Amino acid sequence: MVPTVEWRDGAVRILDQSRLPGAVEFLDCRDYHTVARAIKELRVRGAPAIGVTAAMGVALGAQFIQVTEYEDFAQGVLEICAHLAATRPTAVNLFWALERMKQTVARSRGKPLEDIKRGLIEESQRLLDDDIAVNKAIGRHGAELVADGHAILTHCNAGALATAGYGTALGVVRAAWEQGKKIRVLAGETRPVLQGARLTVWELMQDRIPVTLITDNMAGALMKLGRINLCVVGADRIAANGDVANKIGTYSIAVLAMAHGIPFYVAAPHSTIDLSTASGDQIQIEHRMPQEVISVFGSPPIAPVGVEVLNPAFDVTPADYVTAIITERGVVKPHELPERFRS
Ligand code: MRU
Repeated sequence: MVPTVEWRDGAVRILDQSRLPGAVEFLDCRDYHTVARAIKELRVRGAPAIGVTAAMGVALGAQFIQVTEYEDFAQGVLEICAHLAATRPTAVNLFWALERMKQTVARSRGKPLEDIKRGLIEESQRLLDDDIAVNKAIGRHGAELVADGHAILTHCNAGALATAGYGTALGVVRAAWEQGKKIRVLAGETRPVLQGARLTVWELMQDRIPVTLITDNMAGALMKLGRINLCVVGADRIAANGDVANKIGTYSIAVLAMAHGIPFYVAAPHSTIDLSTASGDQIQIEHRMPQEVISVFGSPPIAPVGVEVLNPAFDVTPADYVTAIITERGVVKPHELPERFRS
């Protein structure tokens, strides 16, 4: 797989996901404003990938801060962080990663500014490397829940493209596949931005993992026919009570899964677990522009011009519908999160 994001020759190189699957193109961001725009425009998306990219954006921006005093430098980094934080509100990984970068600066007080700048690049690379390692651990734990012959429904893209590599929900799929289990993924297309059709299908086909594309409204019928054995999705933010914010449509799948007695798993790293948010009601849901709904990925309008549109990008699945959360620390019940992730 091509890397989602990487630090290359003094720039943040992003695989432009808005062009997939038609073209594999890269965007070399040479200033942090371009990084922020790439996040906003979904050229890079998926909670962990947004976090790592933002961290690299901070490291990039910091290289250009031209001051001599630590206080002024730290202030400059805070301004970069504020700009990157204003891109997308729901995925907590963004804020988690920015916090890590701020802490790196705070810990470095007293060091030469050139060393701090280098330290920020190193920290962003650590976040990237850790994310891949964490996803592999999620995959190992999750693969135990997958049996030979299983058909797995997933939604949106929680794969290598949504992370620094390997994926969370698709990390579980990859690990099961690597163990030799003959599985098939059912990928919901995920209107309106089609992350399932464009991205999940693309990356699974790259790895030759069997995948069948379905439209979002087929899930219930396929469950009733016994064609889905389990559901695995990613998350953008998991509240302390186990409520899960993820791509719009996730909640419907969870309700359908419960109605059909099918397990519904959420695969997510510690950076997605937000114990400071008590419940899903407090999670800010991003609302995006009507154009995403009025047309299908740049097509001519599919609805009468001037129609009123709703476009929440995420929904919240109450913890009661979540069978378990697959984390790098093991498979945990939603109500066990605070005790397992307090430290
Ligand atoms: O709007 P997106 O494409 O950033 O939404 C992505 C999702 O909802 C993913 O399921 C989530 O971020 C988990 S990615 C491992």
